Amino acid sequence: MASFRTLVQSGDFRSLPFDFAHFKDTQESIQTGPDVSVPVIDFSLLSSTNPDERAKVILDLGKACEEWGFFLAVNHGIPENLISALFNVCNEFFDMPEEDKLQFDNKHPLYSVTVRSGTIDGNDPNQQGKLWRDYLKFFVHPEFHCPTKPKEMSDIVLEYSRRTRDLARKLLRGISQSLGLEEDYIEKAMELDSGTQIFTANYYPPCPQPDSAIGLPTHTDPGLLTFLLQNGVEGLEIQNKGKWFRVTGIPGAIFVNTADQLEIISNGKYKSLCHRAVLNNKKTRISLVVANGPSPDTIVT
Ligand code: OGA
Ligand code: NI
Repeated sequence: MASFRTLVQSGDFRSLPFDFAHFKDTQESIQTGPDVSVPVIDFSLLSSTNPDERAKVILDLGKACEEWGFFLAVNHGIPENLISALFNVCNEFFDMPEEDKLQFDNKHPLYSVTVRSGTIDGNDPNQQGKLWRDYLKFFVHPEFHCPTKPKEMSDIVLEYSRRTRDLARKLLRGISQSLGLEEDYIEKAMELDSGTQIFTANYYPPCPQPDSAIGLPTHTDPGLLTFLLQNGVEGLEIQNKGKWFRVTGIPGAIFVNTADQLEIISNGKYKSLCHRAVLNNKKTRISLVVANGPSPDTIVT
């Protein structure tokens, strides 16, 4: 199908095309707003020379992983201008003509660049209902892949992938310690030097009936830790103790969630977060996601 970017620009989308109608997996009350506070981790404290400060942030990190599977990372050291360049270049990608975008779609099952609309992953015909999103997805580690247009994209994504890999490693050291393990236990066991990193840019245009469609249905992520940035438009919902919460960001913070292999390696102590992306009828939402996982050959136990 044509991308949403193209459809939304070309037509009048006053109501929902039938095959996008989704019956939300749950309509339980959503809690949002300042009364709900998800954990915030000050990343700079992880490299503090003050042992008390470091011990405290490791404790907080463990609590965040155990009680929420989610936290906002602040003072993470990834430059603001790199993040805004990344948003700009991804926006430019989605803005390219359909044929230009699709030329990068490559059918190789692993290490591919995927450009799709309306599906979770690939073209699964059995998927129930379509999703209100376009996306671009590719591996950036251990092999680096990236569309060659816009031409600045690969430098920017490469730099972002280096920075996030470093961030993931340092967070996983803290998480290792929070589990009572050696600091480098997870990075060694998961062979992070050749760890996988998958980059996804999600594009969710405004939807005329946002409550009847979905951006991404409830799922958990593969990997150890997922990082997410959004363009100031909310839409991520996370599940905690059976309730759904709409996450409100703080400027500059990176959203971090626990993923499947962290659940396994922590013997179920740090559960993989259930989450979904919901829509709105006013603004386009873009999220940029990096899934950080073990090396492709690692057996996770
Ligand atoms: C994902 C994801 C949520 C969002 O890409 O795995 O959960 O808010 N995205 O876009
Ligand atoms: Ni996800």
